[in-house]
Amino acid sequence: MVMKVIPIRSGRAPVPPYDGGPLADTLERPLRDLRISVTDRCNFRCVYCMPREVFDSSYRFLAHGEILSFEEIARLARIFVGMGVKKIRLTGGEPLVRRDLPRLVGMLAELGADLALTTNGSTLVKHAGALAQAGLKRITVSLDSLDDAIFRAMNDVDFPVAKVIEGIEAAAAAGLAPVKINMVVKRGTNDRDVLPMAERWRGSGHIVRFIEYMDVGSTNGWRMDEVVPSAEVVRRIAERFPLEPIDASYAGEVAGRWRYRDGAGEIGVISSVTQAFCRSCNRLRLSTEGQLFTCLFAQSGHDLKSLLREGASDDGIRAEIAAVWRARGDRYSEIRTSETARMPKVEMSYIGG
Ligand code: GTP
Ligand code: 5AD
Ligand code: SF4
Ligand code: SF4
Repeated sequence: MVMKVIPIRSGRAPVPPYDGGPLADTLERPLRDLRISVTDRCNFRCVYCMPREVFDSSYRFLAHGEILSFEEIARLARIFVGMGVKKIRLTGGEPLVRRDLPRLVGMLAELGADLALTTNGSTLVKHAGALAQAGLKRITVSLDSLDDAIFRAMNDVDFPVAKVIEGIEAAAAAGLAPVKINMVVKRGTNDRDVLPMAERWRGSGHIVRFIEYMDVGSTNGWRMDEVVPSAEVVRRIAERFPLEPIDASYAGEVAGRWRYRDGAGEIGVISSVTQAFCRSCNRLRLSTEGQLFTCLFAQSGHDLKSLLREGASDDGIRAEIAAVWRARGDRYSEIRTSETARMPKVEMSYIGG
């Protein structure tokens, strides 16, 4: 039998059409979660993500014409939702530095998927209302310390804690509660803040998630001895406020959930280094310039922007996405070694956290 193929474009191998059936990768993982990076820029220079020695005035960020327009993003998102994606998360860089972001949120909200945003919170006081009104459903705010001196040093632009907390409160007031609050824990830098952070948000309805410091990108000088294992985080908190594990709220959830035995809410731990969760990884990332990445630690992506700009049909794009997902075998966190940690990888600010 001759297999039907869709010629995508010259120089690119033809791929079979997407038949509409269930989409599984080589490890039988479905495609459920799309993370879209809307900008590679950020107003912070967090030491573990965009160290200022690298991301300085000579760093070449993407130019306007290189990045996907809102219309291009929305077209792709619609195709993805039609292929089974249930959750869309906007990331960056800092997504709120992209002008007019609520307009994109409005376009994506129409698709009916769960729609979330990860932000550093610095401009939320200004934007929370418009985002909620445009149809954003959930928000995650990064906050690495409650100690102002430590936080200012970690974001490396002297940004104060108080303004991020105001942002969290503005998001809650706009109807985006509960807010998830992400803290990357780095030993010797902010690990003393684990307990104060848990204590500050206990009983607030918001959910703090403690993230193991990861070897993403190639510029943060990652070292294993700076990783604080989630088991240690849970032990430290539970010594003061007893905790018990609870079930994931959906299949493939990244965070492990724990609740306070006294009913004061829950926390999460994201243990990419000590307890890899690749087995259930159903995430695909779309970079700011329209490259698809099948893993946070990928070394290269698959170009969708050229397809869009060369006039490919929705069927052609669907076929390409299906081919990329079906060929996927990534499980970086399960096979991480000191060697892989040193390998060149795409920066998190580019690919989208
Ligand atoms: P929910 O939809 O609320 O469950 O959020 P989420 O945990 O999917 O999203 P969030 O942006 O808050 O992710 C938290 C952090 O987990 C990210 O910033 C990354 O540091 C890490 N993370 C998310 N996805 C992956 C992944 O696929 N692999 C690895 N190694 N880390 C991930
Ligand atoms: N390790 C763990 N988390 C990281 N993030 C950025 N860089 C790293 C890293 N090296 C987190 C941020 C934010 C999200 C976008 O990704 O703190 O919560
Ligand atoms: Fe910006 Fe977030 Fe990276 Fe910090 S972690 S530099 S806030 S993108
Ligand atoms: Fe998914 Fe790659 Fe993260 Fe594993 S390391 S959970 S495959 S993104």
